[in-house]
Amino acid sequence: MIKVENLTKKYAGQTAIRDLNFEVGQGEIMGFLGPNGAGKTTTMRILASFMPPTSGRASIAGFDIFEQSLQARAHLGYMPENVPLYNDMRVTEYLNYRAALKSIPHRRMSERVGDVKELCGLREVENKLIRALSKGFRQRVGLADALLHEPDLLILDEPTIGLDPNQIRQVRELIKNLGKQHTILLSTHILPEVEMTCTRVIIINKGRIEACDTPENLLGRIRTAGGVTLEAKVGADDAVTELKRITGVRDVSEADDKGWKVLSLRVESGADVRPEIFRLARERHWEVRELTARRATLEDVFVEITHSDEPG
Ligand SMILES: Nc1ncnc2c1ncn2[C@@H]1O[C@H](COP(=O)(O)OP(=O)(O)OP(=O)(O)O)[C@@H](O)[C@H]1O
Ligand SMILES: [Mg+2]
Repeated sequence: MIKVENLTKKYAGQTAIRDLNFEVGQGEIMGFLGPNGAGKTTTMRILASFMPPTSGRASIAGFDIFEQSLQARAHLGYMPENVPLYNDMRVTEYLNYRAALKSIPHRRMSERVGDVKELCGLREVENKLIRALSKGFRQRVGLADALLHEPDLLILDEPTIGLDPNQIRQVRELIKNLGKQHTILLSTHILPEVEMTCTRVIIINKGRIEACDTPENLLGRIRTAGGVTLEAKVGADDAVTELKRITGVRDVSEADDKGWKVLSLRVESGADVRPEIFRLARERHWEVRELTARRATLEDVFVEITHSDEPG
């Protein structure tokens, strides 16, 4: 659905993205992750034909985004980082205006505008002035706009930025539902969002792609996988040494809590060491009050990948 080849963009002297290559298949929800300034918006703006790349090419649904821009854009709904809205228009009026701009035939307009209002939960505010809308509803108007011409691909640049947790959940649900019928490229800083919604993830850092894989594979790949906490009374045993002997355990630190030892284990990715720990505890007659695993999150992956070039 999206094909990007050697895409490079330089702004006056500075390279924003360098030699990007990736593909997004039909029906995928692709997460686009990266720290501030990584080049996410730049890439998305190029894909939406808002500006040309310095070199390289990209296509949408097989149409070159510059040579066949009209056809490419017919397949694409783009929700920019800051949705430009006309404050003095009412929601329905604005969507009608946008539909006209997108050359949606007049006879189809009210049906289409009705549909996107329904889909994006805008019914209750349809007669409000846009200036009077909360941030969450403004975002939804932006999304409704992107959906007007029934594109099969959505490019959403941080659709949940600035929203409160309830609104984030609502927009996330909306995106998940849209994902049933659309291909989506979604940039966000909210990592649990990606874990919950995306089929694959691109991690971009300083204009380069550092990783592109499923969330599960990314989690499996990182060094700092997960952790396990054991809280027990271990008597005179040297629990740290004993635990370090277990295969898959990388490191153990200990602390005291009123007679209990709190042992924090770092474990290799994919290893579930809990059964071994349990066996050891039974053998040694340790009294256990807690044994829990902390799964590595996409946040760990993100931090590891985007900080790996820094000292320390
Ligand atoms: N119009 C511009 N002129 C000059 N440099 C720009 C321009 N737009 C972006 N840049 C630079 O290009 C790089 C990539 O910016 P971009 O906005 O694509 O990052 P981003 O990943 O979207 O970041 P954020 O998470 O903050 O939205 C940054 O270093 C930025 O300063
Ligand atoms: Mg951005």
